[in-house]
Order: sequence, then structure tokens, then C-alpha cells
Amino acid sequence: MYQVIARKYRPQTFAELVGQEHVRTTLENAITQRRIASGYIFSGQRGTGKTTVARIMALCLNCEKGPTAKPCGECASCKEVASGGAMDVIEIDAASNRGINEMRELRENVRFRPARDRYKVFIVDEAHQITSEAFNALLKTLEEPPEWVVFILCTTESHKIPQTIASRCQQFSFRSVDFGLLVERMEYISKEEGITYDGEVLSVLAQAGEGSVRDSLSALDQAIACCGDRLEAAQVRELLGMFSLDSMGQVASALVAGDSRRMLDIVAELESNGRSLQHFARELARYFRNLLVARISGGTTRLIAASGPEQERLLTVATQFTEEDLTRALKLSLDLFRDLQSSLQPRLHLEMGLLRLVHAAKLQPIEEALASLGPVGQAIPPARPAAAPPPPRTQAESPAQPPATGDLRSRLHATLLEAKQIHLADAVEHSDVVESANEVVFTTSKVFQMFLKDASLEATVKRLTGRPVRVTVKIGEVGSAPPPSAPKPTGGDTETTERALSHPEVKRFQEQFPDAQLRTVRNLKES
Ligand SMILES: Nc1ncnc2c1ncn2[C@@H]1O[C@H](COP(=O)(O)OP(=O)(O)O)[C@@H](O)[C@H]1O
Ligand SMILES: [Mg+2]
Ligand SMILES: [Zn+2]
Repeated sequence: MYQVIARKYRPQTFAELVGQEHVRTTLENAITQRRIASGYIFSGQRGTGKTTVARIMALCLNCEKGPTAKPCGECASCKEVASGGAMDVIEIDAASNRGINEMRELRENVRFRPARDRYKVFIVDEAHQITSEAFNALLKTLEEPPEWVVFILCTTESHKIPQTIASRCQQFSFRSVDFGLLVERMEYISKEEGITYDGEVLSVLAQAGEGSVRDSLSALDQAIACCGDRLEAAQVRELLGMFSLDSMGQVASALVAGDSRRMLDIVAELESNGRSLQHFARELARYFRNLLVARISGGTTRLIAASGPEQERLLTVATQFTEEDLTRALKLSLDLFRDLQSSLQPRLHLEMGLLRLVHAAKLQPIEEALASLGPVGQAIPPARPAAAPPPPRTQAESPAQPPATGDLRSRLHATLLEAKQIHLADAVEHSDVVESANEVVFTTSKVFQMFLKDASLEATVKRLTGRPVRVTVKIGEVGSAPPPSAPKPTGGDTETTERALSHPEVKRFQEQFPDAQLRTVRNLKES
């Protein structure tokens, strides 16, 4: 009978355990010193060894030569525990119906001495799912535990274990297993199984597990089932929906080049190769995370789940970006990943996400731009100091001006962002907005048009304008409409405005920020 690899290679001794040294040492000492608690909580990510260690504990406690940290593996008790048939080692899956019944009978069950062995070991899996009735029974038992009872509660969600129970147990948290250890473990198992592979396969499988030994071994099983006993990285990657550093690197180089066109091609290629766009988005987020970590640490680090040569390649790419760039890219790619989870239009979302990456990269950090301006600060010299000044006016006070349409767009953008309607906000940002008495016309490209057809756009426009305007969406060249935003600054009189505009400091700003608009001029001397 075929046995899945994860089962077949379940460690039977502490020595075989991968990682979890802190758990191992403490338990070994406790057993050697005969300081056995009646309750343990093993918590942590799935597939990191909780059930495995619970069974090793049972072996240690009940071995005929024990209690010992090195069970013999030969005696009747050891053999029965290993095969899962030991009378006095009771495994309960708290999430199953059967488990619920078993927990109900618990108070009866614990009262009787073990049938043959030293201890009655109860291993409760998914312990956070125990019913409150069963927790009560457990609590009663833990308050006055018979000397022969040991409970081991295994859970991925230890915070759901009631405090009354937790405070009566010793807690151990199982850590996710380091990439290097995962690779080593799989190297060993592949050898035992007579599997050959090209160099990167183990790295791919270890990455797929994300710190869970079981998940990595399941991936190995899947790869063997699909590809036989000779594994190739490309095939295995495709099977698991993972992507090579090279394919991720294409996104990075398009980003460095500011090449929107290339981004769209990347999406087209993914689609025509039938790759999952959701997986791609997930991998992209992971990729930028790794680039950021590489950039920050500047060398190989165990914080990145990748081999030495892979880490070097990551670092080469990472140095082409600033830490700030990468933080921004990571944030955008995480947003993209989240949005793609529920998207009915994954392709559109992915395209837009990648374009946003390019656009965001083009935004020069404001600090940098300001720094390049040098010291700023000379006041505008008064031209006619004696002249009686007109009263100062701010934009809000200026009477005749209707709100500029450019303003509507930025207010819309801000409002939508605040309402977490990221895509709608983004589409608005990529549209020309022209406002008339009873209509607001959005002109935008095909990609963004989809997103504007959202009832909440009209609602938001109505709310912001305070009028029952109609919203129309047109496809067209963005930027071709006459610039809707008021190019003329408001406030101040013409003369002050002109003086302000011709001031060298202002001119420098305008050169540095060519798309910026001067909205308001105020004479500070007068306010
Ligand atoms: N720390 C580990 N060392 C070696 N193998 C492990 C480890 N953790 C998990 N495994 C492998 O994964 C399988 C499932 O592990 P298990 O202990 O049931 O995980 P958990 O109970 O934490 O979900 C085991 O049979 C074993 O093959
Ligand atoms: Mg388990
Ligand atoms: Zn034994």
C-alpha cells in the first residue's frame, strides 16, 4: 500500500525532529528529571510537528524501559504507540463528531488507571474546537488530575483555549521551520525514496511549504505523482503554481524601465500560458517582500526562504531600487493580491495593479525633490511698500469662482480612497473630469472605464457636488480634454499674483514640479 511521504517519515524520536530545538530540549529534560506535567499545550502553524512530538512524548512516557527521553522502539508499548494501536494513548480529534463524544466520556475515562502502561496519554488535536461542555470536563480533570493522566492539547489557535485551561498547562509554541532545514529534510527523504531532481526543485518545494514540513512533503508527494522519480524545477513550479525568479525578475525590470507596455505583455503571457493570476499576485507580493528584505539586510539572511545563489540574484535586483521604492511596491502588490482574491476580472485587476506599480515608481519622492531645490525661504520682496493693500482673500472666500473641476476629481479621489474603494479611486485618477451644470463627464481609457461603471461613483459625485448631476463615462484619450483644473491661481490681486509667479523661488518650484498647479496666492504681509 502506498503511504504518503509525510506519514511514512513521521519522526519517532526527538533526534529525528527537524527544528523545534527549544521544545525538544525542555521536554527531554522534563522527562529525564521525571517532572511530568498533567497538561501540555502545543501550539503553532500546521505541519510543524505538534502531533509528532505528542506521540514521541507518549513513547517516552510509556516505554517499558522508561520514562526515558530515548524510547527503545522495541518493547510492546513502543510498538503499539508507533502503530497507533496503544490502549493507553488516546488520540481525539476535537473537531469531529466522534471526538466530541469522546470528550464527553472523558471524566469517566480518566478515573480508571491505565490498562497496562504507566500513563494514560490523551492527545487532543484541533483542541481549540473543543466544546465548552468538554472544556468544563477537562478543567475539572486538570484541577485534580489523577497521577497517571497526561493531556496534550494541540492547536493552531492557542488564543482560543480558555485561560482557565491554559493556566493549568505547560505551553510550547512550535515555530515554522527554516528554509535550510526543510531543504535538508527533503534531500534526505528524496534520497531514501530514490528520487532524483535538478538543483532548484528542493528549493521550490521548501518555498511551497512556507515553513510547514507537512506542506512541503505533500508538495513532494504531488510532484512525484505527477512527474515520476525524476523531478524538474520548471514542471514542479507549474504544478504548484509557483513562478521562477526569472519570471518575477521581468516585472522588476519593467518597473526599473518604467515600461507599462511590458507589464501588459507579462499579463498577456501569463494568460496565454494558462497560469493562475491569483497565484501570480501572491508570488509577486512575496517577491517584493524578499527584495525588500534583501535590500535592507544587504546579504544572505535566513529571513528569506531561498537558496544562497537565489538570494544573490535577489540582492542584485534589489539594489536597483531604494528601500522606499520596494516598500511602496510591496504595499501595492499586497493590495493587488487582496483584490484579486475576490475579483471577477482578475486580468483587469492584474493589469491595473502592474500599471500602478509603474506609475507609483515614477513619482519622485517629495523629500528628494525638495532637497534638490536647495534652501528655500526668501520672502517675496514688496514692490510698492506704500500702496494700500486690498484685503487678503483665500480660495474658500473667493466669491465668483465655481469649484474647479480639477478639484472635483481630487476630492472624489480622496473620498473614494477614504472609503477604501481603491479601484474606483484609481480609475478616477486616470480620467479627465469635466463638470457642467447638470452633468459630470469622465473620459478615460478602456482599462479604467470598467471600474467607473459603479453606482457608488454617481452617488459620491452627487454628494460632493451637492447637485443631482448625471454621470457619463466616455472612452477617450486621457489628457486631451482642456485642462479642467483652474490653471490660474485664485486669491490676491493680479499684481500680487504676477509678482509671485515671477519670483525666482516660485519659478524653481515650477521647474521641479512641472505638473503642479499654483492654486492660491496670499499676501502674508497683509494677513
Ligand atoms: N518538526 C518536524 N520534523 C520532521 N518532520 C516533521 C516536523 N513537523 C512535521 N513533520 C512532518 O509532517 C507530518 C505532519 O506533522 P504533524 O506533527 O502532524 O504536524 P502538526 O501536528 O503540527 O500539524 C509528520 O508526519 C512529519 O512527516
Ligand atoms: Mg497535527
Ligand atoms: Zn520501548
